[in-house]
Amino acid sequence: MRIYVADTEDEMAYHAAGVISDRLIKYPDTTLGLATGGTMIGPYRYLVQMYERGIISFKSVVTFNLDEYVGIEASHPASFHHFMYEHLFEHIDILPQNVHIPDGMANDIQAECKRYDCAIKEHGGIDLQILGIGLNGHIGFNEPGTPFGTTTHVVDLTETTRAANARFFGSVEDVPKQAVTMGIKNIMQSRSIILMASGEAKADIIAKALTGPVTQRVPASVLQLHPQLTVILDRQAASSMP
Ligand code: F6R
Repeated sequence: MRIYVADTEDEMAYHAAGVISDRLIKYPDTTLGLATGGTMIGPYRYLVQMYERGIISFKSVVTFNLDEYVGIEASHPASFHHFMYEHLFEHIDILPQNVHIPDGMANDIQAECKRYDCAIKEHGGIDLQILGIGLNGHIGFNEPGTPFGTTTHVVDLTETTRAANARFFGSVEDVPKQAVTMGIKNIMQSRSIILMASGEAKADIIAKALTGPVTQRVPASVLQLHPQLTVILDRQAASSMP
């Protein structure tokens, strides 16, 4: 595990975008695993800037997003589809057919999970997976207690997670109760992983995930077992590390 501690959230974002862009310059046909959420806004902004300056291109990049809510349209302003287009895809040269996000409106949601796993396999797996972390240690929407062997599946979101995401919906009642998420097995099968966190609220869970026991109670703790993990934190998120 490599850990980089930045002075500020902005520097964390810049550093993460730098690691991603280095990879895209070296391997333009990278398959990226992408996350949404507040932590990702900064890194995506820097990636867009690098694209605009001609430093990187996404023409041969394939992406797989970690998750999507069940039961809201892609066009809903709080959907992860919407987030990805607003913060990244709309501003870069990625080909629409290379963008993959679980369909939370699929009639047969179990079939959608299988289809997603197959699509990841058909593309040869994920080269670089980008992750944020939930206050309860979730990665993707794999909430505490999720077995480490899971592939793409439907989850019941915990109250902590729904409350944390209420800011994107207006009220907690409007936050969907379920989501489709890649499983921990999909994440661990990625060839390399970047975990990012910023802010004091993430300090305790970051310390638990990176230095505590590897346990299903803290899903992100499984990342300790990944051979190619890079952790990028700001000073506040790193403040409870021993
Ligand atoms: C979102 C995702 C989640 C978030 C996590 C942190 O696609 O997979 O695991 O990364 O909830 O969210 P923020 O960055 O909003 O604190």
